[in-house]
Amino acid sequence: MPNRSNEKSKSSLTSTPRVAIAIMAAGKGTRLKSRHPKVLHEVGGKPILAHVIATAAKVVPAADVFVIIGHEAERVRETVSGTGVNFVLQAEQRGTGHALMVAREVLAPYDQAIVLYGDAPLITAGTVEKLRSFHNAQKSAMTILTADLAKPYGYGRVLRKGRKSPEVRAIVEEKAANAAQKKIQEINSGVYAFSVPALYKHIGELSTNNPHHEYYLTDMAGIFHRARKKVVAIKTPDAAEVLGSNTRAEIVDLDARLRLAKCQQLMAEGVTIFYSQTCVIDSDVAVGADTVIEPFVQLLGRTRIGSDCRICSYSIVKDSEIADNVTINPHTVTDDARIGNGAIIGPYSRLRPGSEIGEGAHVGNFVETKKVKLGKGSKANHLTYLGDADIGDGVNVGAGTITCNYDGLNKHKTVIEDGVFIGSDSTLVAPVKVGRGAYVAAASCITDDVPADALALGRARQVTKEGWAGAKRREREQTSEPPEKPNEFQPPKRKIRL
Ligand code: UD1
Ligand code: CA
Repeated sequence: MPNRSNEKSKSSLTSTPRVAIAIMAAGKGTRLKSRHPKVLHEVGGKPILAHVIATAAKVVPAADVFVIIGHEAERVRETVSGTGVNFVLQAEQRGTGHALMVAREVLAPYDQAIVLYGDAPLITAGTVEKLRSFHNAQKSAMTILTADLAKPYGYGRVLRKGRKSPEVRAIVEEKAANAAQKKIQEINSGVYAFSVPALYKHIGELSTNNPHHEYYLTDMAGIFHRARKKVVAIKTPDAAEVLGSNTRAEIVDLDARLRLAKCQQLMAEGVTIFYSQTCVIDSDVAVGADTVIEPFVQLLGRTRIGSDCRICSYSIVKDSEIADNVTINPHTVTDDARIGNGAIIGPYSRLRPGSEIGEGAHVGNFVETKKVKLGKGSKANHLTYLGDADIGDGVNVGAGTITCNYDGLNKHKTVIEDGVFIGSDSTLVAPVKVGRGAYVAAASCITDDVPADALALGRARQVTKEGWAGAKRREREQTSEPPEKPNEFQPPKRKIRL
């Protein structure tokens, strides 16, 4: 265990202290009434914990971030494992103080540890940096991030040495607070910076002598104070940053705040968002300047949108890459699609995963695409299904065209080369290829490859029987069958109440 003298020698040897961030994420979140761990509930389109990790990784390298997991540990670990952070298992959750006891081994090599909550996603890197600088300037054992709340009920209250003093005597939890203490509006956010040697020198003094029989990390304030070690508080001007997610209502509120902030950020960067309160834009979405987003649009996941685009109402764009000058007309749904410069999509298009729409291409109403490359300037404007197809440049796909890609067992590919014209209502039975510049006559069923520049007709020749309908009509009149009566409209009988 480090003692005071090697504490000093360490800090004099290293000019900048080694800082770790511990994120507490082991709790269950009972009040959510959920089968899923609290920190995996989503706000701004990604797990609450993912926001906290992203913030932590802006302050220190991901390798210095330690997430303390417990409830549904494996699920939590799996969900955020791509971020490069470390995990500490707190198998039994015996309190916030216990969480740091469990992390002792991994935190011991550091000079300082910053503690964040896995369920408080609004904390910013700027605020964490301020906490760290204040901690360094004050040379304290513990620095507490606090906030003034109009309704402090339920939170730990901060007992300062004096009203203006930065120094703190103790934190008192709601259940242990007396009437005067309950009136204190300055609350403990649960975010702290600790001197690691001081923390582990004294953490053994925590007890479970409290209503929850837990080790409260908050008790470290009083323990340090009694040991004549400095405890200070720094207040965040934006109390919203420390909001946690204990209830569904709180999660929805956090989500709304994140999305509002996202819209404001995008607008500051030159994006127009009409009626932004109706738009749902996930935190990681990027949009270029001069793009206009109409009301009731959802931009989700890893979506990237270029400049000068227009995304019209009721469209849902998920995990898609959209270049510049693209128009997404109303009611379009895209998922994992790529759309080239100047393309026009919708209204009512559905681009499924693997759709690559070329520059200046058009995909119109009631057109569904999946695993399709549609070349430059090609058009599929109406009522069409294109799946597993490689379609060249300048191709015209007529209304009602269907690539029959599935034979009940396997998927097959359709190749349509540059400049092909597919007449309306054609079915292309894959695997099949239509060569460069060929024509497919309307209503064809194409089962064989069509060579370049050919015309393919895949339908029965029309038979016309002159006079057939007239003869039929006369026959009916002679057998005195009553002519069909058109349905007469009967207004519904309704009682009129006055
Ligand atoms: C805690 C503070 C309180 C503060 C409030 C701010 C304590 C004793 N009290 O209260 O002063 O005002 O946060 O929100 O610390 N966790 C673990 N392992 C555990 C217990 C908790 O990882 O064994 C995690 C939880 O998942 C949660 C966080 O720590 O993310 C806070 O725990 P919680 O029980 O919610 O503490 P509060 O009662 O809110
Ligand atoms: Ca809490």
